[in-house]
Amino acid sequence: MKMQDNWIERANRVLPGGGFGNFDPGIIIREGKGSRVWDEDGNEYVDYLIGSGPMLLGHDNEEVQDVVRAQIGKGLTFFANNSAGIELAEEICQAVPCAEQVRYVTSGGEADMYAMRLARAATGREKILKFEGGYHGMSAEAQMSLAPTKLSNFPLAVPDSAGIPEAVRDAMLIAPFNDIEFLRSLLAEQGDEIAGLIVEPLQRVVPPEPGFLQAVRQECDKYGIVLIFDEIVTGFRFAYGGAQELYGVTPDVCTLGKIVGGGFPLAAIAGNADLMAHFDVSKVGPEGFLMQLGTLSGNPVASVAGLKTMEILRRDGAYEKIRANGQFIMDVLSQSLSNAGHDHQIVGDPTLFDVVFTADPVRDYRSWLNGDAEKNARFNTLLRARGIFKAPGKLYPSLALTEADLQQTREAIAEAAALLDG
Ligand SMILES: Cc1ncc(COP(=O)(O)O)c(C=O)c1O
Repeated sequence: MKMQDNWIERANRVLPGGGFGNFDPGIIIREGKGSRVWDEDGNEYVDYLIGSGPMLLGHDNEEVQDVVRAQIGKGLTFFANNSAGIELAEEICQAVPCAEQVRYVTSGGEADMYAMRLARAATGREKILKFEGGYHGMSAEAQMSLAPTKLSNFPLAVPDSAGIPEAVRDAMLIAPFNDIEFLRSLLAEQGDEIAGLIVEPLQRVVPPEPGFLQAVRQECDKYGIVLIFDEIVTGFRFAYGGAQELYGVTPDVCTLGKIVGGGFPLAAIAGNADLMAHFDVSKVGPEGFLMQLGTLSGNPVASVAGLKTMEILRRDGAYEKIRANGQFIMDVLSQSLSNAGHDHQIVGDPTLFDVVFTADPVRDYRSWLNGDAEKNARFNTLLRARGIFKAPGKLYPSLALTEADLQQTREAIAEAAALLDG
């Protein structure tokens, strides 16, 4: 029996669905080095999943490993303030336009949940507006209209998970991404009841149309709505200061995760000092206080890994290289799929993108849903058989990609496009 089949059998016995819930349980990753990963049978892949985003530098960055080893020798976790966590908060405030203060949590989903609660604490209002198809983790609020198969009329929320109280649905409003006219008319009716608006500045892979985020900012100001940018994916990836730097729109608060913990469990809520004061009972009193703590918050191992990752990203040429790698692959995809006669759109930013098999432009969840998802899955299977490892719906280029990786990717894409049915 192959090693991998043995692990899959064992996983099926002890894990629901045979997996961790994250990714195809039919592959068991043994190790990663640089730009590549190997499965338990020794098959080698160029890694475009990169841990779902955190491993932007590649898998075995020596400098990150050195600081992690040094910290491990001094202690793994303290549940108390530590200098690494304070330094990381300083660097986040330096880098991210909206960040004056930082509160740590352990996962991106938690950060989003607290950011929404913070908007409620700050405004005394209840409703949260999110965009259909926007991903903000697994909280009850975030499960509303995340990936609905049954489409409802806006702004009615549809829960995408069992176990969510009806009351949460009533407190959520759903709007189509990139539709400023819809947003304006919704806010004209209910703007004064809305605590916060949460948005992925680039929603999954769909970019904001020019002026959209600026208009969202203006509308939030008009009604006193807290604007939350979910930068779990885009933070430190789109630019050192994240999507807010790239697009030139500053939210009131943002959430950060993935890269900021250097591959360890760490995420953060970062915002202006007035808002962040709600985490401090001495500033806002018990009425406005948002209770928040967590065993691993500000973990020193994650903090040193994040700090070193950020230091490397600040070096000359880092973002240019990531963007050039991504642009190369976007161009190859576009050429190969056109040559083979497949209707498609390459949707995203060079730091994060994918193919959508549709002839029509993709500007929101519903137009993305028009894409042929089965064809996308077949394309990904053909790529995997040629040593290209990626998630369904996303491709993340890393800084570790070499010329050989890019050439292998080019050949794999050309072959897969030529063999793809439909
Ligand atoms: C935009 C966005 N927000 C939130 C999250 C949730 O982060 P985590 O998986 O760390 O809870 C993710 C995860 O992929 C994400 O892409």
